[in-house]
Amino acid sequence: SKAPSIIKKNLFVTRRVPTEAYTILSKYFNVDIYEEDRTISTETLLDRSKGCEAIMTLSLDVLNKETILDPRFGQIKMISNYGVGLDKLDLVTATKQNILITNTPGVLTSATADLTFSLILALSKRVVESNKLMRKHSIYDQDQFDPQLESLECQSLEKKTLGLIGFGRIGFSVAKRAVSFGMDIIYHARNERKEQAKVVNATYCKTLDQLLINSDFVSIICPGTPQTKDMIGRNEFKLMKKTACLINTARGSIVNEEELISALQSDEIRAAAIDVYTKEPFVPHALRKLQNVILTPHIGSATRQARNDMGILAAQNLIDFFIKRKCPKHAVN
Ligand code: DGY
Repeated sequence: SKAPSIIKKNLFVTRRVPTEAYTILSKYFNVDIYEEDRTISTETLLDRSKGCEAIMTLSLDVLNKETILDPRFGQIKMISNYGVGLDKLDLVTATKQNILITNTPGVLTSATADLTFSLILALSKRVVESNKLMRKHSIYDQDQFDPQLESLECQSLEKKTLGLIGFGRIGFSVAKRAVSFGMDIIYHARNERKEQAKVVNATYCKTLDQLLINSDFVSIICPGTPQTKDMIGRNEFKLMKKTACLINTARGSIVNEEELISALQSDEIRAAAIDVYTKEPFVPHALRKLQNVILTPHIGSATRQARNDMGILAAQNLIDFFIKRKCPKHAVN
């Protein structure tokens, strides 16, 4: 349909978005896109934001107080985040500056839950170590058929306890997957979520300690906030079972990375699967050296469907505000 005749506002987009979103956006905005396939530097972000009323960011872009208060950012009225996580954005300063923030919840829930569950499976059946082993030798039966299971001892998920730290949309989706594998589910969150818990027969742990002591798989699936920073560190690893695995598909800041490395080096826990890092996109050398960790490059939402839908939703949020003059459904402030 033909867009109403309007004076188009300037919009800066910090990374190439899927074509469908771009097509929608360019109907209504003068779109300037950062074309390079890497995270934009703060200086470039500020230079290109100059004269724009809106910016579309990625969850990895750092928008701290200094950036938001920079004169080059002065005309920005809305930040539409392409993604759900807003941990790198200073919400308080943005709100004080009267900048509207939106994100894209919901459309990446199943993609992220799938990744989380695939990591749980990969850890339990030692898929990554097996794959590595297969490439080393042409004869493998000394490992695979060892009745003592000295190497490659796998676990079954049935009757194992999955501990979810966070029980929002994605946590609940992970729980639904776990039900069909016969897992027992416990969760820790700020508030008890009785209705969802009933659906998956999940038990609420009031304290984090209670969850850590009892879980065979600990899945972190809560937002990165000042309250969850370093939530999992030395003391928490000590509470976990020696046979337990940790899966982090939420935010790197929630786990103290150095203490995770020590816990894995000293076999304090059996293994971990990590999709998110403290200083993304940087991955510490010591973590990369460890054999008992699976590393993936922040791919929770990396399906065509999710990435397209995130783009469309981020575009809709902008159109709601600037064109339809209404509060976008996914406004967070
Ligand atoms: C998000 O949406 O916050 C994801 O982590 C980025 O894909």
